[in-house]
Parts: sequence; structure tokens; C-alpha cells
Amino acid sequence: MRDSLAMKILREHLVSAPDSLRPGREILIRVDHTLTQDATGTMAYLQFEAMGVPRVRTRRSVSYVDHNMLQTGYENMDDHVFLQTFAAKHGVYFSRPGNGICHQVHLERFSEPGLVLLGSDSHTPTCGGAGMLAIGAGGLDVAVAMAGGPFGLPMPKIVGVHLKGRRQPWVAAKDVILEMLRRLTVKGGVGKIFEYYGEGVRDLTVPERATICNMGAELGATTSIFPSDEITRAYFRKQNRETEWRELGPDPDAEYDEHIEIDLSALEPLVAQPHSPDNVVRVRDIEGLPLDQVCIGSCTNSSFHDLAIAAHVLKGRRVASRVSMTLTPGSRQVFATIARNGILADLIAAGARVLEAACGPCIGMGQAPKSGGISLRSFNRNFEGRSGTPDAKVYLCSPETAAVSALRGVLTDPRDYEGAYVTQREPDVYDTNDEGMILPPSDHPEQVEVVRGPNIKPLPTRGPLESVIRGRVLLKVGDNITTDHIMPAGSKILPLRSNIPAISEYVFVRVDPKFPERAKQYGGGIIVAGSNYGQGSSREHAALAPMYLGVKAVIAKSFARIHRANLINFGILPLMFTEEADYNRISQDDELVIEDVPGQLQRGSRIEVSTSSGQRLGTVCEVSPRQRDILLSGGLLNHVKINHGGGKG
Ligand code: F3S
Repeated sequence: MRDSLAMKILREHLVSAPDSLRPGREILIRVDHTLTQDATGTMAYLQFEAMGVPRVRTRRSVSYVDHNMLQTGYENMDDHVFLQTFAAKHGVYFSRPGNGICHQVHLERFSEPGLVLLGSDSHTPTCGGAGMLAIGAGGLDVAVAMAGGPFGLPMPKIVGVHLKGRRQPWVAAKDVILEMLRRLTVKGGVGKIFEYYGEGVRDLTVPERATICNMGAELGATTSIFPSDEITRAYFRKQNRETEWRELGPDPDAEYDEHIEIDLSALEPLVAQPHSPDNVVRVRDIEGLPLDQVCIGSCTNSSFHDLAIAAHVLKGRRVASRVSMTLTPGSRQVFATIARNGILADLIAAGARVLEAACGPCIGMGQAPKSGGISLRSFNRNFEGRSGTPDAKVYLCSPETAAVSALRGVLTDPRDYEGAYVTQREPDVYDTNDEGMILPPSDHPEQVEVVRGPNIKPLPTRGPLESVIRGRVLLKVGDNITTDHIMPAGSKILPLRSNIPAISEYVFVRVDPKFPERAKQYGGGIIVAGSNYGQGSSREHAALAPMYLGVKAVIAKSFARIHRANLINFGILPLMFTEEADYNRISQDDELVIEDVPGQLQRGSRIEVSTSSGQRLGTVCEVSPRQRDILLSGGLLNHVKINHGGGKG
């Protein structure tokens, strides 16, 4: 065998036929771990309940609370209590609010090399830093996995990324992934797994590898993975979990579908400019940009090292007076560790604002920049409006660049910093005591009552696929529409995640505030879009809320992977133009008709769409036989109920 590491894990977990392991074919894999966060978790667990399975059937399922932390009303706390009681009853571990961001905590406390993790968050690949095959998916896919069902995906191409050389001081792991984004763009990873190998891997700690895997999501990749080696073992030892470590890597001379090479020694500090993570230039090309805000944190860069580097730079000095600086530890473990060894005191003394261990400003939950402000962040996304300030400009960089820039008040190449670089990348010990913060499921589930406050509304349902779809074009949008455009987040909207009727009032609200009203007025309809529709997060609300509003189909030039899967899961037809130029032949408000939808789907992938003026447009609905059955059933939940007698399969 000359298997890559990713191929080894896929083979070990394959449920479908062995010959399905060819790029593009649908594969079904067994799932070992699942994770959810609160913004996607409530819905995933309501879906799990609807399947009628009493306890999860995975090796480990964990429910995290990290997104909706502001408690300006009862909604978020209603969600947290629902999640906690659900977890206790149904066999799920519960990571309490304050324990940290799901990906950081899963890496620290649960990751296991060689296993498959499915998470209802697009940055689930973070655990690839510890040799897991970790994939982001919609909440419904995660619910099915919790019920013991396999996960289906098109077999990705496996790309070998050869890392050679060693980084110069002040060049960070973040610069490695920004370089990948610069070369490949936000579409460059679609349908691919990036597997890192080579001597340069030894230059990276597990949290640094996790940073690279985390932001592979911005490439659109299925996932990214590093081998599990002696560096991984040392990390597990510090986590007091050495027994859960195993060595794992590709075969010598492993075969990859594609190759990329990065010479770490030639890398420079990089920065992604507004409003896309692939709009990458060298820091020194735009040095001197005045800054209003600097934020270090998010699931990309909130490890011990990321905060230690900031403390090192800021020790004995003050953040520039024009800059508001925030720091977010990724986990309670990181928070406790920096509190013990003095780093926290240095950050506070420097005038930084230290926030609780959660997503916070990354998801627009507080710390919105000033209007028109320039914010420099160590995060992973800089889509327009995501910060909570519609006209803010967000730049993405390493914690090294962020810290030195916060000191100067302008974007600065960290190599210009006058002091020495810190060589210690990890603490000697981590605070690994989870007691009372990660709650195991109850041994007496029959005694646990799942608490449902008024923010927990029943799951919306729909019937089987209609035989004829007739509807107006409710909205026509361009390229690279993100899930933030479709279903925005932020402190007002996010708390409504468990209440679909209420949250659906915000669908496309930042693109066209009249969209929800129009959708209701016309009894639903169709969306027309350019390429890469639905890029960004895994949020299934970007499919579920449109489904609730009656959206029956999206016709686009192309789709982002997770969103396309979410559309199928909620019974919305994802149609691609056969001729991209046909996009120009449809206008908003046109009436479209798709005749005999089930028949067309069963005959093949071609679906004919007619306009009210009698024009015929060719589209394709490229789905596997399983996905076609899901669409015919009106979504995954209906499909599971029909085919597995209440989801017991
Ligand atoms: Fe949270 Fe932002 Fe990551 S919302 S999970 S910190 S991308």
C-alpha cells in the first residue's frame, strides 16, 4: 500500500463499497466523535429527538456552548439549559459556557488520532492538527451520526502539502495557511483534503498545526490533516492523555492526487485584506495602515502560544491609545494557564481587554468596531458585516503581527519589533482539571427532564418533494454569497437559532430586507445565484430558514460543499446552470416552472426549468442515489424516518 494518512483513515471507516474510494464517488463513513456548538446544537438535538433514538451511538459526542454567550435576554440561557439537560439525558458530554471554543477544547481534551470527527461547525477540521479526520457538516448530518448512521460525502481528492524548511522568527503558522489561501483562493480546496507532510511538519506544535487545519475551511476544503508523531505525543502528555495517543502517518512514498510545496524558510508575515480571507498580501506591502481595533482569539488563534506572544510583545508597555485591543483565550485551560504563569497580568497591565473563553467578536457577539473602523484580527473570516459593523474593514493576520501592530497603532511587520522572539511555544504544564466544567452524561437518564424554555420552538417540517415546482425568483444574487449573507449572525439574530419562525425574519436581511416579506407574500419561490453560493460556515439555518419561508430550489453557477449538502438535507433542490450564460437570462420576479421534478430526478441529473416567457433553461442536479432519495423524501429527516423506522439505522 502507498496510502496517504487520510486514505488510511477513510479505509478504516468506510461503510460503502471499497471501489467508492475514487474522487467524486459518494462514500459513506462511520463517525466516531461528534461535536456541536450552541448556535447549531439546539436544532441538531431537536432533529436527533425526532429520530426517536434514546442514547447516542457514537464513541464520543460533545455539546459545546461558545457562540451565544451574551445574556441580554432569556433566549441564550434557554438554549444553554436545553443543551445541558438534553446532553445528560441522551448520552452527550456537555462543555459548560466558559469552558471554551468547541474546536480548541475538543483538540485539548477529546481528540484521538486516526478517528473521524463530524461537527456541526465549519471549523471542525481544527482537530486535524492532532491527526483526526475532522469534517464540518450540517446539524442534521451530525444528528444522523449521533443516531449511529454513516456520513456521506463525495470522495475528495487528497492533496499532499509538502512543508520544507523552518520558519524565520515572527513568521507564524497563520502565515502558512494565509499563503495557501493566497495561492489557492477560497474556492481552491473544494472537494479536497489537504494532508501536510515533510520535515517542515516538525517545525509546528499541535496548536499551530490546528491553526492551519482550522483555516483550511476558508479554502473550502473537506478537511486538512497532520500526522500524529512525537510532537503530538508530547502534546497529549501535557494534556494528561498520553494513553489516547497513537502514532499515525502516511505510508512511505504515499500517493497523492495533487501536490503542493511550501518552503517555510521563504515565508513572510502575511495579511488578508477586506473582505475575503484569500485577499492576501505581504504585511510589508501595506504597512502603516492606521488601526482602530486589534483582536487576538477565535478558534484559529487562541492557544497558549497565541496569547503568550501578545504578552511577550506588550510586557511593560501599553497598547497604542488609538487602538481598542481584545484578547480571547480559546479555552478555560488556556485562560487558567495564562492566569497562573503571569501572562494574564502582563496583558491586563498593557491595557488589553481580556474577554471570556468563547467566540465573541468572531461571530459579532460584542466588540463590533466603530463605524468605518479598521480592525486587525487573528481570526479566520473577514466577510463584510460579520464583525457587526456593516462598513468596518477587517484584516486577518497572525497573533505576532496583531500584537506588534497593537503596540504601534498601525499595521506593522512583526520582524520590525525591536525585542527578541520568544522560543517557548507551549507551557510546561496545562491546567487539565475539567471537573465540573465538562459534565458527563447522566447514569440515570430516565430521571432527567429536558428543559424547554420559550425560546425552544418545535422543529419545522416539510412534506415530500412536490411533483411540480412553480415559483417566482425571489432574489437574484451574484458570486461568493456567504452563509452570513443568507442567514446573518450577530447579537440580535443568533439568540433566535432555536426559534425558526423568528429567525426566518432575518433571511437575506442585509442583502435585501424585504426578502422574508416577499417570500411569504408569494408562498415561497426560487433563488438564483452566481458561483460559490453558500460559502463560509456550516450553518444549516441558511437552508432551514429559507425552507421555512418556502424556498424550493436554488439555481446557481456553483455551490459551496457544506451548504449544498444542507440544501439537500432540507429538501431544497440545488440546481447548477448547464450554461453559465443562462444566469443572465433570468431576472428577479420571473416566474419559473420545473415540471415532473421526481420523474426528472429519477431519470438523471438534467432538470429542465422553464420561464414564464417560455424559455427553457438547462440545469443539473448532481446528486448521489442516496441524495436523490433524500430530496424525493423532502429532506434527510423524512428520509431517515421513512427508511429506518424512526431512525434506528
Ligand atoms: Fe467560533 Fe468564530 Fe470559530 S464563531 S467556532 S471562533 S469561526
